[in-house]
Amino acid sequence: SKPRILIARRIFPEVVQRLSQHFEVQANDDDVQWNAQQLAAQLQDKDGVLTTGGQRIDAPLLAACPRLKIVANMAVGYNNFDVPAMTAAGVQGTNTPDVLTETTADFGFALLMATARRMTESEHYLRAGLWKNWSYDMFAGSEVHGSTLGILGMGRIGQGIARRGAHGFGMRVIYHNRSRLAAELEAECRASYVDKDQLLAEADHLVLVLPYTPESHHAIGAAELARMKPTATLINIARGGIVDDAALAQALAERRIAAAGLDVFESEPAVHPGLLQVPNVVLTPHIASATVPTRLAMANLAADNLIAFFTQGWALTPVNTPASTKFE
Ligand code: GLV
Ligand code: GLV
Repeated sequence: SKPRILIARRIFPEVVQRLSQHFEVQANDDDVQWNAQQLAAQLQDKDGVLTTGGQRIDAPLLAACPRLKIVANMAVGYNNFDVPAMTAAGVQGTNTPDVLTETTADFGFALLMATARRMTESEHYLRAGLWKNWSYDMFAGSEVHGSTLGILGMGRIGQGIARRGAHGFGMRVIYHNRSRLAAELEAECRASYVDKDQLLAEADHLVLVLPYTPESHHAIGAAELARMKPTATLINIARGGIVDDAALAQALAERRIAAAGLDVFESEPAVHPGLLQVPNVVLTPHIASATVPTRLAMANLAADNLIAFFTQGWALTPVNTPASTKFE
C-alpha cells in the first residue's frame, strides 16, 4: 500500500494532486493551525509529513508518532525542527534552500529601501489626508546608494543581498558570518569580512540573514543596538528571536537608531506592542519568500523530497543524516 502523508497546512492544489499520485494523502483543507497535541493525533498513523515551518517537531511528538520517517519543511529555515531528536529517532528532515534565494534577497532589499526612505510611514501620512504642502525635510530619510551595507549571516540569501548592494547601488559591503567566504565569493559579492563589533559600528544599513539557533538568540539586543550608528537602519528577514524586540522597540522610540524594517518577530503572529507604537519601523507579516512562482517552487521541492525519499530512499535537500532511517 502507498505510504501515508500528512500535509500540515493548506498548500497549492496542484501540489496536493502530485502527492496524491504517490501517497495516501491527508490534506488540511480547512487550514487549521493544530497545537502540538492535535498535530500528534493527525500524525500518529503517517509515514511522512509536509510542514510549513509553524509545526514544532520535537522528541515528544516523535515518540507519539513511531511510523514517521520524514518531515519535509516548506521553508529554508528549520528552527521548528529539533534536529538531534529527529536524527536520534531515525527521522529524515528536509528544507527548501536555493529556490527562494533570489526572491528573498529581493524582499530584503525592498525592506531596506522602504525603511531608509520611509515609504510606509509617508503613505500612512498621505492616506490620513495630512499632506498639505511641500517641506524641505518632509520624510527625509537616509541614503541607500553609496552607503555601507552590513550583512550578518552570509549564506546564499546574504550573498544575494550583497550583490544587489554592491553591483546595483554602489554600496560598500561588509559582513560577518561564523565562517569567512571563499576569496572568489567575496570578490563576486564585493564584500569584506569584519568582526561583529566593526559590523555594528560601521553599517549604515544592517541586514540580518542568519539561521535562528540557540547561538543566534538575541544576537541583536540592547548592547548591540547601542554600538550601531544613531543614523543606522536594521533589517530582519531571518527569524524572530534573533532580535530582542523589546530592546529594539525602546531603541527606536528613543531614536538610538534611525529605523527598522522587520518581516519576522519574536512571538509572531503577535507583534511587540512597542513596535506597533513607533513610526520609524516598517512591518511586514513574514512574506520575504512570498511570490507565486517561489512559493510554488518551495511546495514542489518539499513534495519532491517526499517522493524521492519513498521511491529512491534518499532526500534531495536533507538537513540531517540519520544513521539509519526507518525507510530501508
Ligand atoms: C521562511 O521563513 C523560510 O525559512 O523559508
Ligand atoms: C540559508 O542559509 C540561506 O541563506 O539560504
